[in-house]
Amino acid sequence: MASRNNTSARNEILQMLKDDHKRVKKAFRDFEKIDVESDPETAQQLVEQTCAELELHAMLEEELFYPAVRQALKEQDLVEEAEVEHDSAKQLIAQVRDLSPDDPKYKATFTVLGEYVKHHIKEEEGEMFEQLGRSKVDWQAVLEDMMERRVQLERELGLSEEEEEGMEAESTETAEEQEESPPLPAGGRGGDAMKTQQR
Ligand SMILES: [Fe+2]
Ligand SMILES: [Fe+2]
Repeated sequence: MASRNNTSARNEILQMLKDDHKRVKKAFRDFEKIDVESDPETAQQLVEQTCAELELHAMLEEELFYPAVRQALKEQDLVEEAEVEHDSAKQLIAQVRDLSPDDPKYKATFTVLGEYVKHHIKEEEGEMFEQLGRSKVDWQAVLEDMMERRVQLERELGLSEEEEEGMEAESTETAEEQEESPPLPAGGRGGDAMKTQQR
């Protein structure tokens, strides 16, 4: 059943997730270089952006990828652990969002989140992803669902295009005004759309 197309769909999913991993790991490295005290705005912007990216990634995995992994693996422990780790990360995300950058715990909370995330990524890439070899999952369908959901979530979380640039300026627009934004151009769907969004 593992047709060549299905294998390449699976690889495309793993690549999408690994690209996300790489991007957030870089964000945590960038954060280390920021002096939060003298540049709280830059710090907060990076924290907010990273938390939103982590949320999107976690939702994609929980809603679509992990259920497929459950189907693919006999042993469910890895998925159980991954979900527990997601919960811990979400608690830290909520905590750091509640803090102001001048809080002494701000930097520590985000740093600990980074450590959790790094550990989690290591387990996903080093164990979970490696064990998906011979499985009967319809990865092509999973890939399509993930790409569709991703576009949706990017809009919901304000991660689409370069929109977050303008979000710093106090958003006093009403919901009605915000809905006036032009629709996305058609035909942007597919593998290439995924690639172009990386900076
Ligand atoms: Fe994960
Ligand atoms: Fe992941």
